[in-house]
Amino acid sequence: MQPVNAAVVYYSATGTVHALAAAVAEGAEKAGATVRLRKVAETVPESIIGGNPAWAAHVSASADVAGATLDDLDWADVVLVGTPTRFGNVSAQLKAFIDSTGPLWFSGGLAGKVYTAFTASNTAHGGQESTLLALANVFYHWGGIIVPPGYTDPIQFRSGNPYGTSHATGDGPPGDVVLQAARHQARRAVETAAALKAGRLPENGVRA
Ligand SMILES: Cc1cc2nc3c(=O)[nH]c(=O)nc-3n(C[C@H](O)[C@H](O)[C@H](O)COP(=O)(O)O)c2cc1C
Repeated sequence: MQPVNAAVVYYSATGTVHALAAAVAEGAEKAGATVRLRKVAETVPESIIGGNPAWAAHVSASADVAGATLDDLDWADVVLVGTPTRFGNVSAQLKAFIDSTGPLWFSGGLAGKVYTAFTASNTAHGGQESTLLALANVFYHWGGIIVPPGYTDPIQFRSGNPYGTSHATGDGPPGDVVLQAARHQARRAVETAAALKAGRLPENGVRA
């Protein structure tokens, strides 16, 4: 297989999306990729976070996860992006990172990569698909190759989201089925990136 660089870039306030991101990173690594697990910067003041024990606890627990930079996107062949649902949409923290990518986008550095996304909401109908579809709008603008999990593995018929791995936080922490789905999604994205890399010609308008 072609060597593949995979950046798992995510935001998580209370740890759910972090757990999905860890499973995605594991799946990408098992598929043979070199993986960077990266959290985007927090934008909410500490005084607000301190008022929510679960949020404050996760900030401490994830202190050793490196922060996402534009170099992580530039380096990656495949970018696996995670966000909690915020009113059916992408979290402001992830969006702030996305909105810092203008120069890299303009130089062509975001085009031609594989992109795939995962999410969590409080309830099953709380906006998982709308969040993933909103994130996909960004990938279109970047000229990305969107690789959703679809129903490409039996686990998808149990976890049930062809748009991207998703979890309802109100049901408790992510369990085995959703974590398996996350690993499958990562494997599929990495294998697609490897196949694209193997077949890519320098003159097709994509930076090698
Ligand atoms: C401002 C805000 C808006 C939210 N909007 C939604 C929503 O539209 N639907 C939903 O089901 N959950 C919503 N939630 C709940 C989060 O999506 C849920 O807590 C999240 O999945 C937890 O992920 P995390 O543990 O990685 O932070 C919202 C939470 C906050 C703080």
